[in-house]
Amino acid sequence: MSFPTERPRRLRQRDPIRALVRETSLSPSHLILPLFITFGKGKKEVIRSMPDVFRHSVDMLSPVIEEALSVGIRSLMLFGIPESKDEQGTQALNPEGPVPQAVHFLKERFPELVIMTDICIDEYTSHGHCGFLKGDRIDNDSTLDCLARMALVHAEAGADVVAPSDMMDGRVGAIRHLLDSKGWTDTLILSYAVKYASAFYGPFRDAMMSGPQFGDRSSYQMDPANRLEAFREAEMDIEEGADILMVKPALPYLDIIRDLRERYDIPLCAYQVSGEYATLMSAGLQGWIDTDRAFMESLLSIRRAGASMIITYFAQRAARLLSLNR
Ligand code: PBG
Repeated sequence: MSFPTERPRRLRQRDPIRALVRETSLSPSHLILPLFITFGKGKKEVIRSMPDVFRHSVDMLSPVIEEALSVGIRSLMLFGIPESKDEQGTQALNPEGPVPQAVHFLKERFPELVIMTDICIDEYTSHGHCGFLKGDRIDNDSTLDCLARMALVHAEAGADVVAPSDMMDGRVGAIRHLLDSKGWTDTLILSYAVKYASAFYGPFRDAMMSGPQFGDRSSYQMDPANRLEAFREAEMDIEEGADILMVKPALPYLDIIRDLRERYDIPLCAYQVSGEYATLMSAGLQGWIDTDRAFMESLLSIRRAGASMIITYFAQRAARLLSLNR
């Protein structure tokens, strides 16, 4: 059975037909907007390597959220920039820090939002690593207690979802255990289970001023060459109590998203990271690519690979485009 009986083009003749047979959907409800929250007041700071992305102080958030809600974005992922950094990242545990403050504020003003917070100390440590140092090694076990306490501070502030991104072994279990023992049994854990040591985080480290001061992150983040290891990471996190798993970055790792989708029943999130954003944005600004179409295509690909939800700096613009095209 083939041509001329079979004509796949018959299904592509007109948009309403194409829409009927479309296999993958993308809607604002799939998108999570990341926000960088800085200390202080009255701040809206430009990030050189991330056009149209800003660092906001808490008092400057309302217009951003109103705009996001108006196009159907209802989930946020918050990252904090503390006033001071030290060896132990102590500001990560400050209940008055930018993230807990933002959570309080947003929960009160916009109760319909799903508020997720990044759990990792790299933005809070002077050395910029995601764990405590022992000599020049990043120590796993001594970091766990700090991560769990950071998650508790965020849960107490009202976060719906805590999202550990540090890649220490055992942190999901440590966080779940502490949250449960304090009565926060309904706080979700979105685990960055499969996070690769990627060059695509460059602009984020600019944004957060959080690059490692020595060495790199390859003793804790995954080797981009590895796939089987992703299954082990995923399995451990499911066992330790993760509610949602993340793959990060997204576009260079679509195969991994697909593999996890086929293998596990748990909801999957993908993070279209800062370097993915910056490459598409900069090509668009040069006039070398149609930014909007390129982003929509890449977001659709991530959904097609099997992600339920996507964290993307393009969330608002994508949602606006989706609402225009309805
Ligand atoms: C670590 C963290 C990073 C990102 C999210 N959480 C940076 C890193 O691991 O170096 C990267 C996000 C992005 O690039 O958009 N707290």
